[in-house]
Parts: sequence; C-alpha cells; structure tokens
Amino acid sequence: MTLRFGPPVVAIPGPSIVPDRVLDAMRRPMPNIYAGELIEVNEEIFAGLGAIARTKHESFVTISNGHGGWQMALCNTLSAGDKVLVCESGRFAMIWGDMAALSGLQVEVLGGTDRDPVDPTALAERLANDPDQEIAAILIAQTDTGSSVKNDIEAIGHVVRDADHRALLMVDCIASMGCEQFEMDAWGVDIAVAGSQKGLMVPPGLGFCWAGPRALKAYETAGLRVAIFDWEPRMNPQAIYSQYSGTPPIAHMYGIRESMRMINEEGGMEAVWARHTVLADAVRAAVEAWSSPGAIEFNITDPAHRSNAVTTVLTGKASADELRDCCEGGAGLTIGIGVGAKAEHSFRIGHMGHLNPPSILGTLGTIEAALQTIGCPTGGSGVAAAAEVIGKSL
Ligand SMILES: Cc1ncc(COP(=O)(O)O)c(C=O)c1O
Repeated sequence: MTLRFGPPVVAIPGPSIVPDRVLDAMRRPMPNIYAGELIEVNEEIFAGLGAIARTKHESFVTISNGHGGWQMALCNTLSAGDKVLVCESGRFAMIWGDMAALSGLQVEVLGGTDRDPVDPTALAERLANDPDQEIAAILIAQTDTGSSVKNDIEAIGHVVRDADHRALLMVDCIASMGCEQFEMDAWGVDIAVAGSQKGLMVPPGLGFCWAGPRALKAYETAGLRVAIFDWEPRMNPQAIYSQYSGTPPIAHMYGIRESMRMINEEGGMEAVWARHTVLADAVRAAVEAWSSPGAIEFNITDPAHRSNAVTTVLTGKASADELRDCCEGGAGLTIGIGVGAKAEHSFRIGHMGHLNPPSILGTLGTIEAALQTIGCPTGGSGVAAAAEVIGKSL
C-alpha cells in the first residue's frame, strides 16, 4: 500500500524546501521598477548580502542559477588563455572547470577523489611549483553536493596567502551558503558564488557572486567580460535596471528579502550554522547507526570533512533506486539520487535550509523504514541515535 498523503517532502540537496513566508512574499502583482517600494526592497537586499558571505566588499545578483554565478566569476576576472586550477573533490568544481575551458581558459586539475577533501598540502606544493605564477585562479567547492565533502576553505585560503601567489581563490558555495560557516574576508577568499535554491531557501532563479579587492582589481584587465554579467553597470546602486542587467527579478527579490529577514530573526548566520550543525550531526548519527559491514556506509570517510548541507550514503549491494522508490512511492519523501560511479548504490540526504527537528527526524525515520522494507541490513536504529543528538541540544 502507499501511505503517501498530504504535502510531499523533499530531502534532496537542492532545490530545498521553500518556506511559506518566502512563497507568500513572492506572490504579488508587479510594481513599478523605477520608483517606490521595490527600491527599498533592493536596498535591503544589497545591505544584507555581504553579511551572508561575511564580506564587506561587493555583492552581485544575477538572474540565473549557480551556473550564472560561476560564469560571472570567470568572465569578470580572467582573460582567454589564462590558466585555472580546478581542485577535484567530487563533480561540481570539475563542471565549473568545463565551463572555464569552454570560455577559452586553460584548465589544469589538481586531482582528487570523490571520497576525500582537497588536500591543502597538495595545493601548496602545486603553487610552489608555479614560479611564473601562471595560475590565475583556483576553483574549489566548499561542499561538493555529489560527494558531500566539506573542504577546509580556511586552510586553502592560508595556503594561497602563504604562497604569496596572484591566483584568485574562487569558492563555489552553491551548496553550502547558509548551511556551513563561511568567512569570505577572514579566510582570504577572492570570489564566492551561491544560488538562491539551497541554504538560502528561495526557488531557483538567482545567482550570487561576491568579489573582494583582488578580484575587483583583476576585473580592470579581464578580457572575458560579457555584457550580461559585467560588474561595472551592476555596481551602480542608483540604477536598479543596470544592477540586474535589465528588468529586475521582482518576485525573487521579495523572496530573498524575506529569507534574509528570516535569517536575521533566527539570530543571524551563527544561529543558522548552529542549527544546520545539530541537524547534520543527527543525520550523521543515524547513518553511523545504520552502518553495517558491506551495507550502509558514509561516502566521505573522514568525519571532519562531512558536509552540514548534504550527506551521501553508500548502500553496498542494496539498490538505491529501490530505496528511493519506496520512500517516494510509499511515503511521499523524495531523497536525492546518487551521482557518479556509485550512483546505483548510493543516495543523498539534503539537509539544507528550511529544516527543523521534526522534519529531519521524519526524513530519517522514513528512510529507516524503507531500508527495512527493501531488506538492506542496518546496524541499529538511526532514528534513536539522531533523537539523542537532537535531545542534547533542546
Ligand atoms: C556545489 C554545486 N555547485 C554548482 C551547482 C550548479 O548550480 P545550478 O544548478 O544552480 O546552476 C550545484 C547544483 O546543484 C551545486 O550543488
């Protein structure tokens, strides 16, 4: 039988659940875009964006998705033939690298695996072996949504500064912004990129790009500039039309303003990160409890490098398709597909954005029930382990 009833629940790693408050804020007739309330909405957005990425420098918003943010970062700072170093730890930085190659950049990969974080020492060695400073940018994801790794961006920032290298440190925070501590200025990050649809709790449609002083300096000589993403017109706060390179994304502007207000009401980024940490700890406790030889296992082996936004779980011989079908068809819970080589035997739990203990415990309980139904061996009760973690924080 199916017990599927009422609102479906998504626990995929983005797009994440959009709060009713955000949806309600977005549903409105179109206003004047040159005067009136929208100007105040825009001012509130730009006044608050720096606090999300922890930078006092420039924030840009593009009508697109994370890919638009990636492209904006590359084309405003680099020139054809420049070399970018892609740090592999899953799939997303690699796809950013593919975009760089198509944009006329030379791409070198600092090889890694899809089960481990980027090794800061390997990066330090590569930069030390670049005496002519040919590397113009380093591309890395804070969280790779496929592998669910959390890279240590603070350590990577130290490496780039200690090397005294000109390479711009560009960080993909698309999965991690609003879930994981991120300190753009303090960690020496030159560019951060995010999208609206994950930790920021808004439907897909906005890309964000934050730029520090070294990136803004590189902009002055960048040869890849394209009109739609160009920074200069976007830096004019008096001209909302040029700030968005055309008609502004009105509904999304109301949406992101509402989500920023929710973040502030919760207590700011520290409070949001703290909630994500507890809920991610609960997910990890559940997966740990389910782990049993040859069956359930974390994809990321080092506990210190597991993301607070998403957890990739390996299912051994059990079919992840069967598990997902059981969750979705039987209970109305959608969990994330596995990606990469182990796709058939892995699934992902998204724990980003608009989440609380009842929602995460419901998700874990449903997965646990489905694991039993498909006959996947589990060591013990993940729900009990998760409840214990949450209980300690209440
Ligand atoms: C880490 C990461 N980078 C980049 C992207 C691409 O973002 P988008 O699909 O919004 O273009 C995603 C999307 O899932 C992601 O998780």
